[in-house]
Amino acid sequence: MSKEKILIAALKGIAGERVPFWFMRQAGRYLPEYKRVRASTKGFLDLCFTPEKAAEVTLQPLRRFHMDGAILFSDILVIPHGLGANVAFAEGEGPIVEVCDTREKIMALDLSTVRTKLAPVAETVRLVKESLPEEATLIGFAGGPWTVACYMLQGRSGKEFAAARAFAIREPRLMQRLIDTLTEATIDYLRMQIDAGAEAIQIFDSWAGLLTPDQFALWVTAPTQKIVEALNKSHPHIPIIGFAKGAALQLKPYAQQTGVNCIGVDQQTSMEFALHCRTNPLQTVQGNLDPLLMAFDRDEALRQTEAILKSLGNMPAVFNVGHGFIPETPIENVEAVSEFVRAWRR
Ligand code: CP3
Repeated sequence: MSKEKILIAALKGIAGERVPFWFMRQAGRYLPEYKRVRASTKGFLDLCFTPEKAAEVTLQPLRRFHMDGAILFSDILVIPHGLGANVAFAEGEGPIVEVCDTREKIMALDLSTVRTKLAPVAETVRLVKESLPEEATLIGFAGGPWTVACYMLQGRSGKEFAAARAFAIREPRLMQRLIDTLTEATIDYLRMQIDAGAEAIQIFDSWAGLLTPDQFALWVTAPTQKIVEALNKSHPHIPIIGFAKGAALQLKPYAQQTGVNCIGVDQQTSMEFALHCRTNPLQTVQGNLDPLLMAFDRDEALRQTEAILKSLGNMPAVFNVGHGFIPETPIENVEAVSEFVRAWRR
């Protein structure tokens, strides 16, 4: 009988002596080897859709830091691309997404092209699986429908996404239609990743914290619950991490109603509170070192890492950052925190 990998075991609710770890945005511009591969591409999406290169950058951080998880290299904005909306990443500017805020544009989104347009991502998953260290777990991912809708309604990055929030208020039926389409596309896309070899899934709802409690229930919790139900039905052994950034007091209903295996925790939330939001003894938590501490204060990052690990008690958990690494993150800091977590025992 093969022993379960440590990250999978933790996600399924088994608290081992060592706490497994990986980091959001662990691949990326803070690594010189990433920048070299990136410079050899025509653009960021070209990197996402070139399986050999995407597989290479997926594996790069594990060679340096020996995380327990490799996160597939792709982006949450490949879903609008798969549905037929234009997506581009302008150098130094971030994403530019075709705005889909009319009935015509929303009705024109085409679920039938998701698998074909995103087929290179499945190929990346297969390539990563061939070279993944045997103790490591490959994590697939997608954005939460609300967060992807934020970019599709506003067209670019922002801090408030007022265009998306206003659309949800003024056009609730069209918003529901957009969210439903994104939910279906996401289920299809995640099933494709799992069939290709992804062993766990994370749903990134980075802008969940912009919503009122009622809107949160409608646009974050309900679609996530649908995704979890659908994946549990088709792939019952694949654990799902739900990361609803900024959920705050909505974390408990989110954990309860979505039924995610693991609750992603941002750095604004204490692990104690997240542990209190678990709905059954097998539900687990993941988090939550401040990525800015990781970037700018190694000693404090180490102290905080220890405090987080201690706060877990004997609960099943995964160590991570509370949001993605920033490009300024020094490699030595990631090394120090990784070694600390790897050596720490309950
Ligand atoms: O290492 C990993 O975590 C895997 C790959 C990954 C990327 N994006 C690569 C990326 C993952 C999981 C994401 C998720 C993602 N993408 C989110 C959710 C998580 C979060 O950070 O909140 C969001 C909101 C996006 C959308 C997105 N992609 C934006 C807003 C930007 C521009 C901002 C920036 O950091 O440049 C991206 C680009 C992006 N995605 C880069 C990387 C490595 C940088 C692009 C480059 O190399 O030129």
